[in-house]
Amino acid sequence: MRQLIAGNWKMNGSLTMARGLLDALRAADAALGCDLLVCPPATLVSVAAHALLGSRVAVGGQDCHAKPAGAHTGDISAPMLRDAGASHVILGHSERRADHGESDALVRAKVAAAVAAGLLPIVCVGETEAQRVGGQAEAVVAGQLAGSLAEDFAGVVAYEPVWAIGTGRTPTEADVAAMHAHIRAELERRLGAGGAGLRILYGGSVKPSNAAALMALPEVGGALVGGASLVAEDFLGIARAVRG
Ligand code: 13P
Repeated sequence: MRQLIAGNWKMNGSLTMARGLLDALRAADAALGCDLLVCPPATLVSVAAHALLGSRVAVGGQDCHAKPAGAHTGDISAPMLRDAGASHVILGHSERRADHGESDALVRAKVAAAVAAGLLPIVCVGETEAQRVGGQAEAVVAGQLAGSLAEDFAGVVAYEPVWAIGTGRTPTEADVAAMHAHIRAELERRLGAGGAGLRILYGGSVKPSNAAALMALPEVGGALVGGASLVAEDFLGIARAVRG
């Protein structure tokens, strides 16, 4: 399977910025050996879907509500994202777990809502620095997988160590490889054969300069990119570094 390079714009992006960036991705996409996904803020999902119409670059949301509709002021549902042109949605990002107190059970409910709406969920897991230092990283991630994924999960998993997000620090290649092997084993144990083929992305301070080494590691099926996804040259630099 081709690797997936996904951009999580987080709470960044304007109409002007989006148009320039998306045009650049659209122009470069055909020559790439990987799949591209952009996850702009909800205000720009429809804009991105229109700008990328007819290209292979996919569009995703950054979160959705667990319910398809109703009295939930300020929230956005999975069917709304689908209606706006999204095909994917990021769920359980550590910033949502921290800023909005999202639990594994809530993430699991959101995954079900996403799948019901025809979206491919990208479920984020990852340990804090204290948990890694305390030797609990693998147990924490196993617990997040167990709590967030149903037995029939068929989406993407993103391993994002919380301490590597936006810090410029990354785990060693050996640590990334070990965690991805652990996640693969957990997916196979819990999901059976279905767990063998799911993409496992790495996220946390991925840049053009470290992407080739990270993307070459076994069981790394792509990257979930934050800051570097906001600059076309950087995002495409990462995409060009994949093993193809
Ligand atoms: P950075 O690439 O900015 O570290 O962010 C990673 C991330 O959280 C992507 O979801």
